[in-house]
Amino acid sequence: MLGGTSFLGPALVEGAIAEGHTVTLFNRGVTNPDLFPHQEKLRGFRSSTPGDEDLSALARRRFDAVVDVWPNDPALAASAAEFLKNRVGHYLYVSSIAAYDSKEFGRAGIEETAPLESWIGPGRKYNRGKAESERRLHAILGDKLTIVRPAGAMPGLLEVSSEKAFRAGWQTRPFQETALDCLTYFRSLHETLHWDDYLSADKEKQVLDAWAHRSS
Ligand SMILES: NC(=O)c1ccc[n+]([C@@H]2O[C@H](COP(=O)([O-])OP(=O)(O)OC[C@H]3O[C@@H](n4cnc5c(N)ncnc54)[C@H](OP(=O)(O)O)[C@@H]3O)[C@@H](O)[C@H]2O)c1
Repeated sequence: MLGGTSFLGPALVEGAIAEGHTVTLFNRGVTNPDLFPHQEKLRGFRSSTPGDEDLSALARRRFDAVVDVWPNDPALAASAAEFLKNRVGHYLYVSSIAAYDSKEFGRAGIEETAPLESWIGPGRKYNRGKAESERRLHAILGDKLTIVRPAGAMPGLLEVSSEKAFRAGWQTRPFQETALDCLTYFRSLHETLHWDDYLSADKEKQVLDAWAHRSS
C-alpha cells in the first residue's frame, strides 16, 4: 500500500487485512504513524524531483499487489509504477471521476471508455493529472493495471450519500438513489456553485433514466 494512513488508505488497508492479506505500508511516517502497529512499514519519500525520490525500501521485494492512491502528479505516479512493475503481480490505481473529459462528464449514460481530460489543456490540474496518471500507468503496466474512479466522498455530499449508506449498513447503493442524493446535494449549494449544464430538468431525467437502465 503506497500511503495508507490518511483518508482512503486506512479503509483499503483494513479491508485487505479483513480479507486475510498481509499488508505492507510505504510512506514517510508523518501522517498517523501509529496506525496499523502490526503491519510492516517501509519508509521512503515520493517526489517528482529526480534524485529527491527514495523508493529504495521497496527494492529487493516482490508484492502480489500494489495500491497507489497518489492524487494527481503523473510523474510521481509513473515513477513508482516504473520502479515496481517487475516486482508486482497487479497494480491498482485510485483515480477519480474527475479524470473524464469535462464535456463528457455531464453526458447521460457515460461509460468507462468515455474520453478523458487531456494533459495539456484548460481543465483543472487535478482532473488533468488523474487522467494523465491513468495513461502513463497503462503504458508502463499494461494488463497488470486496474483503475478505479471513485466519486463524491467530500464533506457535505458524504453526509447525504455515502454516510447514509454506511448508517444503513449497505456495502453498495442503487445507482438511482445515489444519483438522487447527489442531485439534491448539488441543488442545496449556493447558486454560484451549481453546475448548470448538469442540472437542467432534462439532464436530470436523462441521468436517472440511464442509471436506472444500467442497474436493471
Ligand atoms: N475524496 C474524494 O471525493 C475522492 C474522489 C475520488 C478520488 N479520490 C482520491 O482518493 C485518494 C485519497 O488519498 P488519501 O489521502 O486518502 O490516501 P492515503 O493513502 O490514506 O494517505 C496519503 C498517504 O500518502 C503518504 N504520503 C504523503 N506524502 C508522501 C510522500 N512525499 N512520500 C511518500 N508517502 C507520502 C502519507 O503518509 P506520510 O505523510 O506519513 O508520508 C499517507 O499515508 C486520492 O488519490 C484522491 O485523489 C478522492
